[in-house]
Formats: sequence, C-alpha cells, structure tokens
Amino acid sequence: MQIIDGKKIAQEVKDQLKETIEQITMQGKRIPQLVVVLVGENPASMTYVRNKERACEAIGMKTKTLRLKEETTQEELLTLIDQLNHDPSVDGILVQLPVPAQINEQQVLQAIDPSKDVDGFHPLNVGKMMINEATCLPCTPKGILRMLQSIGYEDLSGKRAIVIGRSNIVGKPVAQLLLANHATVTIAHSRTKGIENLCREADIVIAAAGVVKLVKADWIKEGAVVIDVGTTRDEQGKLCGDVDFEAVKEKASAISPVPGGVGPMTIAMLLENTLQAYIAHEGGRENGCTTV
Ligand code: GUN
Repeated sequence: MQIIDGKKIAQEVKDQLKETIEQITMQGKRIPQLVVVLVGENPASMTYVRNKERACEAIGMKTKTLRLKEETTQEELLTLIDQLNHDPSVDGILVQLPVPAQINEQQVLQAIDPSKDVDGFHPLNVGKMMINEATCLPCTPKGILRMLQSIGYEDLSGKRAIVIGRSNIVGKPVAQLLLANHATVTIAHSRTKGIENLCREADIVIAAAGVVKLVKADWIKEGAVVIDVGTTRDEQGKLCGDVDFEAVKEKASAISPVPGGVGPMTIAMLLENTLQAYIAHEGGRENGCTTV
C-alpha cells in the first residue's frame, strides 16, 4: 500500500516554479502576480487565503490579498474586478468562495477576465475544459490528476472511477478530467441510491462529499486507488477527510491522507496556473494555461 504524499508532490512542483521565477527575476522581467480577493471573515477562507499568500511568497511570486468587509456590495466587487482585469501587473485573480449571500457568485466569476481566471471557474474556461481545449483547469481537480499520475495512473483506459460529490469546484470538473483521460466515470452524490455498491466496482475513488469518514473499508475494491478531498474541521479544528483512512488503507493499493494530500496540491496548481497565465500575458496570447 502506497501513501500518495500530496505535500511532497506539491513541494516538487513549487521547487520548479521557484526556479522559473528566479530566472524571470534574473532577466529583469516583470514578476508574475496573483491577487486574492476575500470578502468577509469566514474562518476556513481566512486560513486558505493565508496559505496561498505564504505559498506565493515561498516561490518568489508577487501576491496581494484584498480583504473586503462582509457587507461589500455586488457593485463594489464588480468595480474592483474590473480594475484588476485592466491592471497589466496582475496575472491571476482569485475570488475566494464562498462569498456572502448578497453577492451573486456566478456574476462575479463571469466578470473575471478569462485569461486571469486561475481558478478555471469562468464559463468560457469551464466550456473549454469540457471540449478538451487547453485552458486554466480548476486547481483541485488538476491536482488530483497529478496525484494519479504520480503513481503511474496516466492513461486511465479500462479503469472505472467513481466521484462522490458533484460540486462545480471539485466533483463535476474532476469527473470531466478523468473522462478526458479515458476512465469510465460514475458520479454519485447525496441523492444516489446504493453508493457503496457503485463504489465497490471502482478502481479509482474520488471522495469529495464533505462528509467525515463517509467511505468505509467495505465500500472499497481490493487494490483500488483512493483520493480523499474532504476538508471538514471537527470541534477541535482538526481537518477530517471523507474516507475512513485507517480501515480503507488496508484494502487500497494507494491512498491520499488528510491533511497532506489534496490540499497542498490545490495550492501548487494555483501557483502553476498563475505562472501559465503570466506566460500567456507576456507572450500576448489570450490564454496559455494548459491541460493536466
Ligand atoms: N473555496 C474553496 N475552494 C476554492 C477554490 O479552489 N477556489 C476559490 N476561489 N475558492 C475556493
């Protein structure tokens, strides 16, 4: 049984990005910049945003976090995004989700210049992903595919995958990327009957339901690969996955832990997307973010 060490793979990605940014710096060129917009004070969002800032700093990428008050209006946020869209020093714009109730999330995501959409959430980029055209891919799904690649799961022909969860951020896009890599994909969710039986047929299990220890050992086919996307915090603030790790690891051939699995990969992919957006901006192309 192999532990898929997301922290280690993410560090390798970040080391490479750091080297590239060092070269850019030595050549006296403009440094890539990521701007994160955080509306309100959601504690989980504040932690994510801080981690993103630290990661940028560690690789020498320019970063700025714009912290807006909880009562920020739709119009104020759209005005800010318009300014960032027109600022040539900004390569990536990330509006941390969820946004407060008075903000229309889809309208905000659609206002971001698609070439600066390092989350891959703009409908144009979602559409490109659906037809396998090069674009900025959502960070968590892209990170998951990299984790599978790290254990030799590249061409997924003949493999059955189950994705548990159907969010726009993880479930739907990861299912699409698995499909693009030739897996046979089932998407299960809270309204699915008999998830455990579907799960037992899967060679690859992606657990992204947000339910602590949902996936039990008897759901798992012997030798399956299990990726845990869960990020639920318990009363002590401890991060908990969607998979009963201790039991499932006895049956899986490879499994990702929480913490130290998908989380660090998401941030590494965000940095990579920002660098790719920078390269596209410098080269004058519309969007240079690529496939996995
Ligand atoms: N909130 C949770 N995950 C994400 C993400 O990947 N991007 C953004 N913008 N917000 C999130």
